[in-house]
This record gives sequence, C-alpha cells and structure tokens, in this order.
Amino acid sequence: MANIRSAYTDGTSFFGARTPASLAEEFGTPLYVYNEVILRQRCRELVSMCKVPGFVVNYSAKANTNKTILQIVREEGLTVDAMSPGELHMDLLAGYDTDHVFYISNNISPAEMKNAIAHKVLVSVDSLSQLDMYGSFNPGGRVMIRFNPGIGAGHHKKVVTAGKETKFGVCPEDQEEAFRILEKHHLTLAGVNQHIGSLFMQPDGYVAAADVLLHLIAGFPASLRSQIEVIDFGGGFGIPYHKYENEPRLDLADLGAQLDKLFIAWKAQHGYEGRFLVEPGRYVVAECGLLLGSVEAVKNNGPRRYVGTDLGFNVLVRPAMYGSFHDVEIYGDAEGERPVMEQTLVGNICESGDIMAKDRLWPEIHENDFVGVLDAGAYGFSMASNYNTRPLPAEVLITEAGEARLIRRRQTLDDLTATTI
Ligand code: LLP
Repeated sequence: MANIRSAYTDGTSFFGARTPASLAEEFGTPLYVYNEVILRQRCRELVSMCKVPGFVVNYSAKANTNKTILQIVREEGLTVDAMSPGELHMDLLAGYDTDHVFYISNNISPAEMKNAIAHKVLVSVDSLSQLDMYGSFNPGGRVMIRFNPGIGAGHHKKVVTAGKETKFGVCPEDQEEAFRILEKHHLTLAGVNQHIGSLFMQPDGYVAAADVLLHLIAGFPASLRSQIEVIDFGGGFGIPYHKYENEPRLDLADLGAQLDKLFIAWKAQHGYEGRFLVEPGRYVVAECGLLLGSVEAVKNNGPRRYVGTDLGFNVLVRPAMYGSFHDVEIYGDAEGERPVMEQTLVGNICESGDIMAKDRLWPEIHENDFVGVLDAGAYGFSMASNYNTRPLPAEVLITEAGEARLIRRRQTLDDLTATTI
C-alpha cells in the first residue's frame, strides 16, 4: 500500500515505524492517531514563548482529555484547566496535583461547585450569582473571577466567548457588585481571567484584549489588586488547518515578545509577583492528531463524486458543526497516476450534513483506500458522540520511538448498553 497524498505525514514522520494500513489492520478504523514528538514540540514552543518570570501555559483540557495525552502535557510543564467534574477527574488521573489545576467554570451546579471546592482547586466563577454561590459554600476562600472584556474573536460565532453577544464572564460595569459579594463572604480575589474566543492567527487581537484586562485590573481598589496571584488571558491560539496550502503559522515569537512587554511593564508598575497564564487547548493538541478512516464506497450522484467512509460527524463533528476545514490525506495502492478530480468525503451517518470535506480536488479515491483527516487532535475525540449508536473510536499514540501504543480501546456494543436499565 503506497501513499497517494501524504506530504504532511511523510514530512513529519507522523506514523513512525508504522503505516496507515498496518494501524488500520491492527486497531481498526475510525482511529485517532497521535504523534508524541509533535505533541511535545507544541508544548515546548508554548512554554518558551514568554521569558517573564511567572509565565505559565495552562492547557485547556476540553480540547482532548485522553489520559496519556494529559500525562505528556503535564511532563512538559503545563498546568491544566477543568470545567466539569469529568475533566477534573481526568486531570487528577493523569497525575496533576490540585495546585496545578484551574477550574474555569460556567453555570455549574451546587454539587459541581462543592466538588471543586472539596478538591481544593482554584475556581474561576463567571457570574455574580455563581460568585455568591461560591462564597456561601466556601466563606473566606480564594476565588477567581472571569471578566468579559467586551472584545470577542473567533473562527465561528459559536466559539466567540466575549463581547455582549455571549453568555460568558462578568461585565466590567458589574465589578462594584462583585467586590461587594467578595467582601460579604470574606473571599480573597486570587485571580482574574478571560477568554475572548477560539482560533486567532494574528497576535494583535489577543494582545489588545490582554491589555484591556490589565487596564481593568489597574482600576480595582489597591487592596483587591494586591490579592491577585493569577491573571489568565485565555486561549484561542490558532493552528494552520490548510496544511497543503502552506498556511503560515501563528507567530508565537512575536506574540510572546508582545506579551512579555506587557507583563514586564505590569510587574514594574504594580510590583506584581504572581503568575501570568495563557490557556491554549487547540494549539497544544490539534496537530499531533490525525483521524484515520476507511473508504467503504464511492459513487457519483449527478455531477458530484462522493467518497463514503466510516468518518461520520459522530467521530469528528467540527466540519458539520462549524463548517471547519481539515486537510485530508489519501493512502492506497498507487498503480499508475490517479487523475485529479473534485470529490466530497462523507461519513456513514443518516444525515445529509454528514460531510467531512466538500468538493476538494484530490487524486481519485478508491474503495479500500484509507484517508487521514489532519489536525484532528483538538475537539476531535473530545466532541465525538455515540450518534446512530456507534461505539466511540480507539486512540493510538505513535511514541517517540515510532511505535504504536493503544491509549484508548474502541468502545464495544456492551459499553453502549452498560448504562441501560
Ligand atoms: N479557556 C477557556 C475558558 C475556553 O473556553 C477555551 C475554549 C479555551 C481556553 C481554549 O481555547 P482554544 O485555545 O482551544 O481555542 N470546539 C471548538 C472550540 C471551542 C472552544 C471553547 N473554549 C472548535 O472545535 O473549534
């Protein structure tokens, strides 16, 4: 089995000593394949992007909570967030201690709030009512508040998380009320955070929003400002999904230098000795992950050629949900040249929106080929579902030694019925 379209994985030795076909044979498809070298490289780029003392990269685990992935991220020195009891559970299973977990909550239940407090993790609340709830459960405790800086950004309106049109954060105009609630419950304002949205490719918007947050904090009463030990600017760091068009990368060195400048000035101005957090999810894990699928059927419906695979939106929902672009590789028997033609890659789910990649110019795909959807490590498995009552896929890590290690087995039909009564 040769590769038909594989420049990216060839160039990165993505499959190590293995081939897509041998992985498919051993583990089946759909299969999430992760490359450890790429994962560690992304972690290292982030950790070294700012030089200022107190700079911390807080991995946003919603992008991928596989235990082995979390362990590697922890080894690379990143802290981690959680926003649900499940994410907190996974963080702890991966060996994180509670000092290195930040609970960035949104509309959590009293039980979830108590669970986070019981685990002694620092909790960020994002409304006045949740601040009051936190204070009533943990009077005298330490808490973070998420503010909504009024500037939003993102690749799709569903992922813009600041500005007036979103549900997130406390508005700056409500700060006095927030301070009254802090006082009422004798709370320490241990930190402030924001997250403006997902997938920016230019540093400027993020830096501008960071500046807005620092200005907001500068206006707090000095007695409160001096309590702050954590300032978290959120995630959103984009990755180049258009691999085959050589899309430029986010310039991390430039972003880091601009942030360093802000942070150094802030330290000098306020004598701040605390931590500055950035909170990327996608940047850490997207590119180390590939979704491997099998081509089951090929047909023409009128002018359109459909390539039918086992990659439905149950395994990767981003294209169906946001219209997201993922590049696709093709692995198959390359006897002779394959003509290039427009093709649409679809899955096996009973919905017409089950489209992974539409009208792409590729070498002709045949039955029994395999396809690899690139940059699937973030919001891939973590958003997968059992729709159409299909088991969740397996996950495999290509280790630094180039070997394949199963890091999550495929669900079975018994797993699907385990919770039915
Ligand atoms: N911090 C907070 C508070 C967040 O809500 C998020 C993402 C992040 C950090 C990490 O953002 P990132 O660096 O990964 O962009 N499912 C969508 C993305 C939703 C992001 C939600 N919040 C997608 O597949 O594009």
